[in-house]
Amino acid sequence: TQVLTFLGLESSCDDTAAAVVRSGPEGTEILASVVAGQTELHAAFGGVVPEIAARAHAEKLDLCVEEALAGAGVRLGDLDGVAVTAGPGLIGGVMSGVMCAKGIAAGAGLPLVGVNHLAGHALTPRLTDGIAFPYLMLLVSGGHCQFLIAHGPEEFTRLGGTIDDAPGEAFDKTAKLLGLPQPGGPAVEAEAATGNARAFALPRPLLDRPGCDMSFSGLKTALLRARDAAVAEHGGLPRQVRADLCASFQAAVRDVLAEKSRRALAIYLAQAPGEPVFAVAGGVAANKALRAELETVCAKLGVRFTAPPLRLCTDNAAMIAFAGIERFRMGARDGMDLLARPRWPL
Ligand code: KG4
Ligand code: ZN
Repeated sequence: TQVLTFLGLESSCDDTAAAVVRSGPEGTEILASVVAGQTELHAAFGGVVPEIAARAHAEKLDLCVEEALAGAGVRLGDLDGVAVTAGPGLIGGVMSGVMCAKGIAAGAGLPLVGVNHLAGHALTPRLTDGIAFPYLMLLVSGGHCQFLIAHGPEEFTRLGGTIDDAPGEAFDKTAKLLGLPQPGGPAVEAEAATGNARAFALPRPLLDRPGCDMSFSGLKTALLRARDAAVAEHGGLPRQVRADLCASFQAAVRDVLAEKSRRALAIYLAQAPGEPVFAVAGGVAANKALRAELETVCAKLGVRFTAPPLRLCTDNAAMIAFAGIERFRMGARDGMDLLARPRWPL
């Protein structure tokens, strides 16, 4: 294998990111990874505003690229290619990234490779730990929740996923309902530490049905009802009751993800992988209760458990540069007709 150095660009949601990654026979190195968030720009609107996001990406991409190249000590001429998220995501933002990447590729005479954002997340265990195919992956964040078997850089089998909300979204809504700050995941986890997970009987949706599909919107509704009942009973939300609600909610999410992981692992292990690996990525993978449970599930089955460091679990461009290198090695090349795609299932 030849040593390849790629610039990667990411702008599919509310993070503008650029990174330089070098990969060769000795391994893979992130030479620079710059992420510029937009949380403050959207704070007043209670969610990401696509138009504001697209403008901010268009303004910040050049700066992120300059910073990444300078940080890596690399010039455009040292690069072997440019990789960019071409979807799925908010179309204005994806277009900003694709335009920027086309400009750089055309100007510097470099190959261009469009990358599926989900493939970027799904290939991260190879970037961080050099994990071999095939491995089982759980992507679990504010926007995604799915089980995938990764067979190759462009070959994934989806075993199931959420049919409504993603767990991160449910954590964020729970925090909102209980008057806790955003992002909700860390806030709910901190409260849950002093709560009783058995205080409230919340549902474990879809566990009674076969397969790996999940649902989290009913859980959110159940939490709302439990909160209203508690407020009616106590004339407010005492600190301990709030902690109990958080602990009960977190346990429900953990139980659903753990049971569905067991089912996904059974399907994966039936394919007799050499060294079985279960990787979990996405913002919710930061949850310690969830991680501990998944580690136990894997230990019982003799499966190696791995989770990339958080900064590589959340949106970043290093995963895009790396996925670009993996696709490039497979022969993938895109032209100036590369399209930005709002929807692009793996
Ligand atoms: O991957 P990510 O940064 O962005 C996308 O959604 O793509 O994930 C963010 C999500 C948020 O919903 C956040 O509340 C959740 O991950 N999260 C957590 C924790 N830390 C972040 N959820 C549960 N427990 C945590 N410790
Ligand atoms: Zn993402």
